[in-house]
This record gives sequence, structure tokens and C-alpha cells, in this order.
Amino acid sequence: MSTILIKGGTVVTAESERRADVLITGEKIAAVGPDLTAPDGARILDAGGAYVLPGGIDPHTHMELPFMGTKASEDFFTGTSAAAAGGTTSIIDFVIPGPGQSLLDAHATWMGWAEKAACDYSFHVAVTWWSEQVSHEMGVLAEQHGINSFKHFMAYKGAIMCDDEVLINSFMRARELGAICTLHCENGDLVYRLQEEVFNKGITGPEGHPASRPPWVEGEAANRGIRIAEAIGTPVYLVHNSCIQSLEAITRARLEGQIVFGEVLAQHLVIDDSVYRDPDWRTAAHYVMSPPFRPPEHQPALWRGLQSGMLQTTATDHCCFCTPQKAMGREDFRKIPNGTGGVEDRMSVMWEHGVRTGRISPSEFVALTSTNAARIFNIYPQKGAIEPGADADIVIWDPNLTRTISVETHHQNVDFNIFEGMECTGNAAVTISRGMVVWENGELKTERGRGRAIHRPCWAPYWETQRKRNALREPTPVAR
Ligand code: URP
Ligand code: ZN
Ligand code: ZN
Repeated sequence: MSTILIKGGTVVTAESERRADVLITGEKIAAVGPDLTAPDGARILDAGGAYVLPGGIDPHTHMELPFMGTKASEDFFTGTSAAAAGGTTSIIDFVIPGPGQSLLDAHATWMGWAEKAACDYSFHVAVTWWSEQVSHEMGVLAEQHGINSFKHFMAYKGAIMCDDEVLINSFMRARELGAICTLHCENGDLVYRLQEEVFNKGITGPEGHPASRPPWVEGEAANRGIRIAEAIGTPVYLVHNSCIQSLEAITRARLEGQIVFGEVLAQHLVIDDSVYRDPDWRTAAHYVMSPPFRPPEHQPALWRGLQSGMLQTTATDHCCFCTPQKAMGREDFRKIPNGTGGVEDRMSVMWEHGVRTGRISPSEFVALTSTNAARIFNIYPQKGAIEPGADADIVIWDPNLTRTISVETHHQNVDFNIFEGMECTGNAAVTISRGMVVWENGELKTERGRGRAIHRPCWAPYWETQRKRNALREPTPVAR
């Protein structure tokens, strides 16, 4: 069993910063404290002048996702390796069954793909249709496969979109199981109609994408999803909030005591919709993702959402498509595969634009990049913590290490980087995944297949106590 002693760093958790050493035995953290001594044969890592953080958790990725007539270019090995290079040691990806497909079959397929992962992973499972079988399989996934979150797409009409009836059925079943519902919020019917209108006006390029998915389309769905969850009494987690409208819907509900969580993507915090006006079609197409990049005034609101605790997590929605794949929509923006990358860059971008600007503290950085996701999805303190007994997923974070993000040097399997040219000071110097050094001296040392599936039990204490407390509120109309 290998032993590693990390010496001389400042250990940062979501609660505190303190000078302490960290002793790792095998795959676990054995001790945290001042002046620990190294047992014989231990490897010593000098963290002097650096922070020692819980490995990042990206709660929203799509490795090798079959989507819009193609497949995302990043696979579970390349994607989790790129993640490690940036300090992220766990991902939560998505199983997305087609309408009519068995959830269990789809889960088995994704688990097979993920066997090549280098770091640990888990899955949200999407509910894209409804039947007795779906209801039964949700139970099997929750009780036997460690799935405690079910995803619902309110967009992508004609493909994986849920209507309200599916939402209601699925939310009721999730409540019974003690699982959390996650939501992609855009009104898919309105998007479909707007896409036709925009295209029929002769707008065929990437600028048609944001025009057909304005913020109010997201705000409407966010509010509707939240209100359905309120009626049913189930916690919800809204993925990739990109605009003031969805933040307002979340804030309103949270202030009323509802259990609602909100995620924001690192890219929505720092990139605006001017990218769609780039004269180079290829560049603009690489920014086509949903929800789209927004006018700049949405960014400070999203930062305030994070600062105030109304939004709790940061993710990337890492879903990479190379130029020939984006070119499927050369004549029609509706056919450009939706998705952007960033799993390698999220932590650096959040440090550069969050911590270095003074918007967030190092502890808030840890909460927003790791601990809050671990708590919401019930893998804390196995993940997201630096304490004895936790998995040794650790980053030695050098606040003085500078890197200019570029497609030329990134480890992601995609021929474009949406953060191209961004200089970030504060980067992962060493990344440790379950006790193994997987990134150091600018070199990846990941092993194909070393990642393990993370089991996530239902009834997360983090929100279950709040849910019980809220049950004391006035009864709500449906099925209470
Ligand atoms: O554009 C995106 N976000 N692609 C991936 C699928 C999704 O909506 O999360
Ligand atoms: Zn989405
Ligand atoms: Zn997504």
C-alpha cells in the first residue's frame, strides 16, 4: 500500500483554511494535522506556498454522448484525464436513454463506456418518457445501482424532451425513492417555434442559436419546473443556469423555503453572446451550446447568485464536438451539435475570475467546485472533503502557477478551446486521485480503467433535513 505525505501546505475546505500536513495511506486520507511524520517509504510531496484542496467534482459532463446525429468526441478516459490535469477528480455524467428505451439497458451501456475512466465517476439517469417500466427501473437504479438523481430535459423537442406529464410522474416517483430531480430548463416548444421563425427569416448561421433561445425561454421553464417540484414536494437541482430569469426563479423559491439548487457553468460566468457574431463560422459554431451564452449583464448576476448561496455548484456541461461535427450545421444552425468543453479548465477559470478578483474566498472556491456538489448528490465526505477516512482525491493548488489556456496545450480531445488565450494564475500543480498521483510537473499519469463508479445513496441528509422541516409548511396541492 503506498503512502504519501503532503507537507507544508494550507489545507482549504469549504469551512476553513489552516496550515496542515496530509497523510495518505492507500486510497484514503489517514491523517490531517500539523507536523505529521512520514512513515518509512512514504513519498513526500512539498506543498510549501501552495493550497491543498479537495479534488474538484464536476457534476455535469457528457463523455462520448450520442447526440444530434453524432457522438461527443471526448471519451471517459480522455475526459477524466483532462479533468485531472485541471484538478478535477470526479465527474457526474449522464445516462440518457432514448424515448422507449429501458433505463437499465441504457445505464448498463454507459457503465460499459465508463470502464475506461481514469478517475471516479457517477451518473444522473435521464427520464425521457414514462411508463410503469420506467417507474420500476427508477427504483432498481436507486436501490441497486447507487443512482440518487434523475435528469429531465425540458428542451430538445422531438428527441429527449419531457412534457409536464412526464415531469409530474417522474417527480412523484423520485420523491417516493428519496432521489433528487435535475432539470435542463428551456421551454422546448417555444424553442422549436422560435427556431423555425428565425430560420425562415433567412438566419441560418450560429447567430440564430441565441436568437431562438432567449433568456425568458429559460426563465419560463425554470419557474415551471420549480413549481411542479413544489406541488409534488420534491427537491430539484437546475443545471446550467445562464441568466437572470432562472436565477430569479430559484431565488424566489429558496426564499419561500423550497429545496431548490442551482448550478452555473464556468463558461457562462465569463463568456458572453458576442461570440456568436464572430465572422468566422467555425469559431461561432464552437460556442453553440444550450442554453446559449448571454448578453454580458447576466454575468454579474450569476456571480452574485454564487456569492449569496442562491447557486451552489459550478460545472462545465463538458460535451465536445470537433469542427467536422459542428459543420453538420453549416447550412442550418439547428443542426450544429450543441455542446462545449471545459472540464480541464473549470477550476483555473473559477480561481482566476473568482478568487483572484476577490469575488469568492478560497473556501468558497472549494464549496463551489467540490463540496457542495458532494453534499447535494450525497457523496460527502467520501468526496469533497479533506479529513481522515475520505477518499484521497486531492489537489496541490499553486496560486502562482500561470497557464494560458489553449487548444495547442490542453488535454481535452477536441480541436477548439472556448477559453482560448485566457491567462489563469492559480493551477493544479499535483492532482491525486484515490491515492494515486495522476498529474504532476505538467504531465499526466492517469491509468485507463482506474476510475470507479461512485455509489450515491438516496435520502441525502443534506437536503432531507430541509425537506422534513419544509413538510411543516402549509400543504401544497398535489399528492401530499
Ligand atoms: O449544449 C449542451 N448543453 N449540450 C449537452 C446537452 C445538454 O443540454 O446538457
Ligand atoms: Zn442541458
Ligand atoms: Zn448537459
